[in-house]
Amino acid sequence: MTHLLTLDNVSKIFGGIRALSNVSLSVPPDRIVGVIGPNGAGKTTLFNVITGAYRATEGNVVFDGKEMTQWPSHRIMRAGIARTFQNIRLFGGMTVWEHLLVAQPHQGNMLRLVLPARFADPVAWRRAEEALDIFGLGAYRDTVARTLSYGLQRKVEMARALTTGPKLLMLDEPVAGMNHDEAEELRLLLLRLQGQGLSILLIEHDMPFVMRLCHQLYVLNFGSLLAEGTPAEVRSNPAVLDAYLGSETAC
Ligand SMILES: Nc1ncnc2c1ncn2[C@@H]1O[C@H](COP(=O)(O)OP(=O)(O)OP(=O)(O)O)[C@@H](O)[C@H]1O
Ligand SMILES: [Mg+2]
Repeated sequence: MTHLLTLDNVSKIFGGIRALSNVSLSVPPDRIVGVIGPNGAGKTTLFNVITGAYRATEGNVVFDGKEMTQWPSHRIMRAGIARTFQNIRLFGGMTVWEHLLVAQPHQGNMLRLVLPARFADPVAWRRAEEALDIFGLGAYRDTVARTLSYGLQRKVEMARALTTGPKLLMLDEPVAGMNHDEAEELRLLLLRLQGQGLSILLIEHDMPFVMRLCHQLYVLNFGSLLAEGTPAEVRSNPAVLDAYLGSETAC
């Protein structure tokens, strides 16, 4: 099978710390893949390497048939990868609508960066409308994003990522701070997006959410892959139970 994203023996070393050690994984097209593991396991570092925020110390990243290990992040985004952040990153003072317009690749007029609501081009406008609609944010269109509840701010981040028209959407702990109903609503929404052809790679600590959503899971532990497989396989893997899931009763 041709994969959309493939990591081949990727390592990331900070000073003396091996935050990632020979990690190989792949995301098939139209699939939802989860990355789980204890705090400090290297999950966010993995996302940072894939998106070009960090350079891999060793190994290769191939996306959509292109070797992009050394690409800068803006080029990776244009190639079709969008992400959200573990710590929400929204701009102070900007409305939801403005966030949805500024994220998109440059469409000529730089004034849109200062006055996004006036100078956005029609394509950007349409994508922003769609994202607003998909995430049910219409009622908050003109609200300053940072004044919204945590769950809604997470939705704004995801909607913003979607406006770039990605092939792969990467979510770093999307349900952190969401209540049960919000998480369930998001799960159904992500399944719908996957059904429309989007691939999703997500990090999450909420095990019931992950187990019910993902087709494939990778388990990171101390920077190395501990296990991979379907949720059922991972859930019954003795090494995973020992290192990570042992205390989880909910899954
Ligand atoms: N910029 C950096 N400089 C030095 N060390 C870093 C840097 N970024 C991450 N690390 C280290 O890499 C390791 C993995 O961190 P990372 O944030 O990737 O873990 P994580 O799995 O996302 O954890 P969590 O579940 O708590 O978010 C940690 O030991 C962390 O201190
Ligand atoms: Mg993290």
